[in-house]
Amino acid sequence: MTDSRQKVLIAGGSSGMGLALARRCLDDGAQVTIVGRDAERLARACEQLGRPGLLRALAADISREEQVASLFERAGALDHIACTAADIQGAYALLPDLDMAAAQRAVASKVFGPLYLARHGAARLAPGGSLTFTSGIAAYRPQPRGAVVAAINAALEGLVRALAVELAPLRVNAVSPGWVDTPIWTHVAGDRKDEALQSMARRLPAGRVGRAGDIADAIAFLMANTFTTGTVLHVEGGHRLA
Ligand SMILES: NC(=O)c1ccc[n+]([C@@H]2O[C@H](COP(=O)([O-])OP(=O)(O)OC[C@H]3O[C@@H](n4cnc5c(N)ncnc54)[C@H](OP(=O)(O)O)[C@@H]3O)[C@@H](O)[C@H]2O)c1
Repeated sequence: MTDSRQKVLIAGGSSGMGLALARRCLDDGAQVTIVGRDAERLARACEQLGRPGLLRALAADISREEQVASLFERAGALDHIACTAADIQGAYALLPDLDMAAAQRAVASKVFGPLYLARHGAARLAPGGSLTFTSGIAAYRPQPRGAVVAAINAALEGLVRALAVELAPLRVNAVSPGWVDTPIWTHVAGDRKDEALQSMARRLPAGRVGRAGDIADAIAFLMANTFTTGTVLHVEGGHRLA
């Protein structure tokens, strides 16, 4: 549980896991800033979440360092930074079909984005603060078409361990989700989303795919547990065993 009165910034908070985390933090009484690139998507998320007194939205592209620097000037003091942002559109493809510009956008959003968030955000965090990033099962159980996503998740986990050492006593962790039913699946499987998720649910020891709230709970744990740093918390229904 996040402490009430705490200030939490969530990059990726307008959709999927980030949106679920925003809802959870607001339920705990925290002050929440959601961040994404698309102002309309942010406005829709704010409408869904309600609580205008505790919630605000700031538009920024975390893959652009100058936008991240300006984001933190606007955001003010914080207790926790969480990042679920990812731009993997076009990056899920077999090697011959891979759009290299899309691959670079994916790297920029999931590796450079977290690096910029740490570089410009760490100094804004109160003592006891934390940064939590989101890697993913593709680093452990890659599938054909998943080379770029596997690489960025693995790189992010290395970054998390290094930042946990460099930024101590701030804590830095990652959650590694398995397959979770969120809008990102449009970019992974298109029309075959339901079929892909149902078939994975049958394979998993947990007997179902993830819900955005499962990951929000895990991030809330990583924010709150002051003896956890440099860790990757796997929330994947047993996918690494399946
Ligand atoms: N869903 C899964 O099955 C799964 C599995 C393993 C790992 N993951 C990882 O889990 C994380 C969350 O995924 P999700 O399923 O919740 O995704 P999602 O529903 O697509 O949400 C992604 C969020 O990130 C924002 N975003 C994307 N690029 C951004 C950028 N450059 N700067 C700022 N915001 C940006 C999006 O808003 P805008 O587009 O408006 O910027 C959106 O709010 C991702 O890192 C993903 O790789 C997901």
